[in-house]
Amino acid sequence: MANVFKGRSLNVIEDFSINERRYLFRKVMELKKAIVCNDEETMSGFRVDDPDFGIYEVFLEDSTRTKESFRNAAKFHHAKVSELMCSSSSINKGESFADTFNMLSGYSNRIFIVRSKVEGLTKWLSEECGEYAVRNALPYKPAFINAGDGKHEHPTQELLDEFTFLEDQDMDFSHIHLALVGDLYHGRTVHSKADGLKVFDSVKVDLIAPEELMMPESYIEIMKENGFEVRIFPSIAEYLASGDVAKMWYFTRPQLERMGERILQKQDILRDAITFKEQFLPLIAPGTKFYHPLPRHKEHPTIPTFLDKTELNGWERQAINGMYVRMVLLSLIAGKVGSDYEGCAEDVKDYRSEEYIISVKPQDNVRKEKNYSEGVRPIENGIVIDHICKGDSPSEIRNHMRLISSVLNLDESKGGEWVSRGSDGKYKGIIFRPGDYELSRKDLKRLAAVAPHCTLNIVRNSKVESKFRTHMPPRIYNFSDLSCKNEACISNPCNGEGVPAVFFRTQDDKYRCAYCGKVHSFKEIWNKRG
Ligand code: NCD
Repeated sequence: MANVFKGRSLNVIEDFSINERRYLFRKVMELKKAIVCNDEETMSGFRVDDPDFGIYEVFLEDSTRTKESFRNAAKFHHAKVSELMCSSSSINKGESFADTFNMLSGYSNRIFIVRSKVEGLTKWLSEECGEYAVRNALPYKPAFINAGDGKHEHPTQELLDEFTFLEDQDMDFSHIHLALVGDLYHGRTVHSKADGLKVFDSVKVDLIAPEELMMPESYIEIMKENGFEVRIFPSIAEYLASGDVAKMWYFTRPQLERMGERILQKQDILRDAITFKEQFLPLIAPGTKFYHPLPRHKEHPTIPTFLDKTELNGWERQAINGMYVRMVLLSLIAGKVGSDYEGCAEDVKDYRSEEYIISVKPQDNVRKEKNYSEGVRPIENGIVIDHICKGDSPSEIRNHMRLISSVLNLDESKGGEWVSRGSDGKYKGIIFRPGDYELSRKDLKRLAAVAPHCTLNIVRNSKVESKFRTHMPPRIYNFSDLSCKNEACISNPCNGEGVPAVFFRTQDDKYRCAYCGKVHSFKEIWNKRG
């Protein structure tokens, strides 16, 4: 059977389906047992055992556990293990990430493990280096593993966290009740949990953090969409007073290096709310376990060191599990294990099949369309865009019409824009432009992307010659005047990497950046004009 894992990249936890992750966890269980019992035969079934198989670590941000557990996992495979000396690489001479990684791909490196402040970097590199591999007839397409990208995701930490929770509940996938405590705003390990915890059939998450460190609303939304029960508490003390307390607690450290001045000034008060104290001990149930992705601060640990020798300590085994999980992940991506996986590859959504520009039958005469005669002389030749932003306020509609006009490059010196109120009391915008407009398919796509739910009338000789209705496109891409508004994103122009922006429509009709996951409204994705 074909191995569905071979050559895959892991940029975000959702890149592996729930069934694929469950399969991985069972394999980790198997390998961990084999290593503990020194069962060489089972171990060799996981080993890549190829001195030319290149596994390359590139850590552009500090790391101890992730980097070293990956390095040790890679060495288990008897593979070629290398590390880029980032502080002395040509990245510091202004070389793009694409050029750096393309070149490394050519040196027989098949798996890259990358940590960076730049969000979405590995997704971009997997696309870019895939094309490089084809151009240069390399016998493989390199795979990328995101070892933490800014505040975005940390999918391999998520895998090892989930594995440890599962180990502690005898591989029972049916339910988890987990408290997330600490810096939920900046911590990428907890952001990965919004999709990661879907491996459990039912999920209850308690978020414990003062407002300044609370989980961003966008991740809370994802958790709710995923059917999780979510509760919010400002401090551990208030959580314990609630009476319904999880037996699994996941702590994260305050990420001082990512905080702005305003929050840093309050760090002592904020830390106090998320630090476990001795007087809390009688309030927690027997069998409770604490976890932490680590590191913890030597002077201000949120899990104090006096707890190390107690039954609460789940974080030490969690860190050790990191190596086993990463060994198996490398085995899967190398194609050494995984051919007995029985689930099929996930269905890939075909975006081409969704029609969002619908041609409708025109009314016979433009003069009969009463909206077009409101305050203007009917046009003989030109375009009329109607039903713009129906329901918004007049000033919002006016701003939006300005955006449409500039995105479509409509001649501002002719025609006009109107806001009118329908019989239902709702406002809507109308743009009139006389002239000989020839709109291409690409222009229509731009119109749908900047003015969904509107009607475009193309008028010739006072007749509506053709008429289209626009809907929200399933993805918006391939226009040079789009950009993701997250400055940490690889596709944001301030990073200078020339990555074209790509957005996918969300369940609630917003647009999510394909690289960093930031959610925008369809109006926000266009570059500022004029
Ligand atoms: C985490 C990280 O880098 O995101 N650490 C880790 O990978 N073990 C958490 C942290 O830095 O606080």
